[in-house]
Amino acid sequence: MAGRLIQLPPPRGPLSEQLFEALEGDPDARVAPPGSVDAVDPIADEDLQLALYVAYELHYTAIAGVDERWEWAPSLLGFRAALERPFEEAIAELVAPAEAAEMESVGAALQAIVATDPGPPLSRYLETQGTREQMLEHVVHRSAYQLKEADPHSWAIPRLGPRPKAALLEVQADEYGGGNSERMHSVLFAKTMAALGLDPTYGAYLDRLPGVTLATVNLISGFGLHRRRRGALVGHLAGFEMTSSIPNRRYGNALRRLGFDREATHFYDEHVEADAVHENIAAWDLAGGLAADEPAVAADILFGARALLQVEARWATHLMEAWDHDETSLRTPVAVPA
Ligand SMILES: [Fe+2]
Ligand SMILES: [Fe+2]
Repeated sequence: MAGRLIQLPPPRGPLSEQLFEALEGDPDARVAPPGSVDAVDPIADEDLQLALYVAYELHYTAIAGVDERWEWAPSLLGFRAALERPFEEAIAELVAPAEAAEMESVGAALQAIVATDPGPPLSRYLETQGTREQMLEHVVHRSAYQLKEADPHSWAIPRLGPRPKAALLEVQADEYGGGNSERMHSVLFAKTMAALGLDPTYGAYLDRLPGVTLATVNLISGFGLHRRRRGALVGHLAGFEMTSSIPNRRYGNALRRLGFDREATHFYDEHVEADAVHENIAAWDLAGGLAADEPAVAADILFGARALLQVEARWATHLMEAWDHDETSLRTPVAVPA
């Protein structure tokens, strides 16, 4: 796996059409701000989420035929801001504001938030009765984040004081394989994809991913790329680590039940162990440490964790509903290797 390079996917509406057309040209030529972004449901809007995803991807990857200077082109950032606004507003509508009592211990509040939110029964369903097609679809959805696992949260590193920074680096060191690239979680995920007969190339399935899946990644990228959302970014990571161990054990069990071996399950098995440790570091040392350093962002830490749960629930519900109707949860189905 060398440097990342993705292809521009086909647009899904006027926003992505305008953006992609501009990206194929010179960054000095500017992209005009979109007239209005009137998505009824911004979190699941195909056009808005794809355009935002590609705008963020400029920070993570090369895009074929796109001048790298677009990353910081002022007109691009203006265009992106017009997409971020309705998305941010839609998330804020879903998230209950933090209560004053929760701010007394952000670590305890995070534990209460994840304990009282079981989320949709996606991992239990896949463990006990999911089909091979459904498990492969789940992996394809997750590839949007897992092939760059940990990268969005790394944006927090330069923005934290010593105690939360040390905690974040302790978690991230594991995510990046502790000095061994073969153990890097994104690399383990690529191995899972290959073992399942899927294409592990970064971005290979972008065109198949629905807006609601792209929203789960745009949420972290948005928190990560704005320093003002460092609290939400840290809360997102804490929530992620705290809700990872049990579902990942179930996904590993699902693959074993379907006849896959260690090469396919290693990524999930690794998370059962690692995240049992990470969740405590993330809740108490990272999130608690940041709240102690900067009480002004404590509420946003809880916002980040709650936003994660809400957007993940939207995504999981989409999968379960599609499968309930015997339909693919992707925009177009993937071929299932024999
Ligand atoms: Fe991980
Ligand atoms: Fe982790």
